[in-house]
Amino acid sequence: MIKLTSTEPGRIKTETLVIPVCPDRDMHRSPTIRSLTQQALGCNPFQGEKGEDLSLHQPPEMKAGRVLFIGLGRHSELTLEHFRQAAGQGVRLSQHAAQGDVVLVVPDGDMEADLERGDLLTAMAEGALLSNHCPNHYKSEQKIQALQTIRLHTDATMTRKSQGALKQIDTICRGTLQARDWINQPANEKTPDQLAQRMAQAARRQGVKATILDEKKLRQLKMGALLAVGAGSAHPPRLLILDYTPPKARGTIALVGKGVTFDAGGLNMKPTGSIELMKIDMAGAAAVAASVIATAEIGARQRVVGVIPLAENMVSGNAFRPGDIVRAYNGRTIEIGNTDAEGRLILADALAYAAKHYRPQTMIDMATLTGACVVALGEKIAGLFSPDDHLRGLIAQAGQDVHERCWPMPLPEDYQELLKSDLADMRNIGPGRWGGAIVAALFLSEFTGKTRWAHLDIAGPAYHKKALPYGQPGATGFGVRLLCRTIASLQGEKR
Ligand code: BES
Ligand code: ZN
Ligand code: ZN
Repeated sequence: MIKLTSTEPGRIKTETLVIPVCPDRDMHRSPTIRSLTQQALGCNPFQGEKGEDLSLHQPPEMKAGRVLFIGLGRHSELTLEHFRQAAGQGVRLSQHAAQGDVVLVVPDGDMEADLERGDLLTAMAEGALLSNHCPNHYKSEQKIQALQTIRLHTDATMTRKSQGALKQIDTICRGTLQARDWINQPANEKTPDQLAQRMAQAARRQGVKATILDEKKLRQLKMGALLAVGAGSAHPPRLLILDYTPPKARGTIALVGKGVTFDAGGLNMKPTGSIELMKIDMAGAAAVAASVIATAEIGARQRVVGVIPLAENMVSGNAFRPGDIVRAYNGRTIEIGNTDAEGRLILADALAYAAKHYRPQTMIDMATLTGACVVALGEKIAGLFSPDDHLRGLIAQAGQDVHERCWPMPLPEDYQELLKSDLADMRNIGPGRWGGAIVAALFLSEFTGKTRWAHLDIAGPAYHKKALPYGQPGATGFGVRLLCRTIASLQGEKR
């Protein structure tokens, strides 16, 4: 829960009042805040540098139990991300064993021209909301709990002006946290059917139409690639479709998300060191589902359809094998070179289905697709592939805006021959290791028809082993804010 307050800072009753501080410029207009900041900067070794914090307990003439100062770093170098991180840090340092509360002061003084006050406020709201999440459902004892209320301090005019934006941020951040919860859930509690039901239920609560296709239906539809990947599991695959259609919809966007609930690698089984984390291989599915739901809650003008293939890639007597040839939904045959390259197989059916059934103007898929993409871009940046320069630019910009960064990668035509098969229309892997993320993306491009399409490989940023400035260790929920922002900019697009 996030609210705004414009009460005079000295009179705010709260456990913790958080004040962002720069070493070289006072960013606050309130005399109370200015004098407190001066006091803080007089306390060695606090200097207001990035990441520093300092607490003053029960300062005189204040109603707050504690004032917590968070260093931002040099004023001329500040970006919105500094404010997200500072708010996230403020919230994390305010959490304790019982549910508490916090008030974060939004700077209202001198700022560089590109930092608008409204944006500062929403950035701080974002950092605070995303940080206020303690995934400890499985712990018998809860050491730290999420705060019950977060308030942002700003003036009365901003309070009035920002309500709408704040509500949207709250919706999108709840979506991110929902995605994190789904991803963090262990694979023994999220079979394809269980996850489909869970996502469908969340979608229906927002008036989104949810349909779950079972294995019988998938056989009727001839989704041979999705069925092959799911064949080795005791828990059969599903195709979940989330359809948000507003009245008088202006165009259609299709989102496709990889939903491998556990990727053991199949008969090309993953070794120790790689297999442990593979419950997160449905992070694309989680981001897509949460984005469709958030978009519905916000009330976008386009139709947004999430097409989510769900399967468990396991080993058994029924498992698909290297050398098998399967037929995808669009009729193309695929020789299986490696059962661990399963994500592209389930996406092949889903992309072909989405393109054919919904005829979207834009189709975007999101997937924890390749280790190669993590080698290329590391753990914080997604690979962005699209034959459409404009769409690629638009998504990259959305990523900059929300700090879910994606970097443009090529789709070279002459690499397509790496997927050649002697027996079938194509193979699901190339002959060697090089360019693995590109080869995977080129494979997907075979199933998109003429639809304007982009692919995001989120194998790196979907998960973080250590805590981040506004995230606990584990799933990051990467992609929800990116997709929601992309949908918003597609809405404003002149085509
Ligand atoms: N789920 C993995 C990719 C992955 C790796 C996700 C690391 C998250 C973190 C994917 O299904 C996979 O196994 N890809 C193989 C492809 C290879 C067999 C061509 C890979 O990246 O090694
Ligand atoms: Zn795999
Ligand atoms: Zn996988």
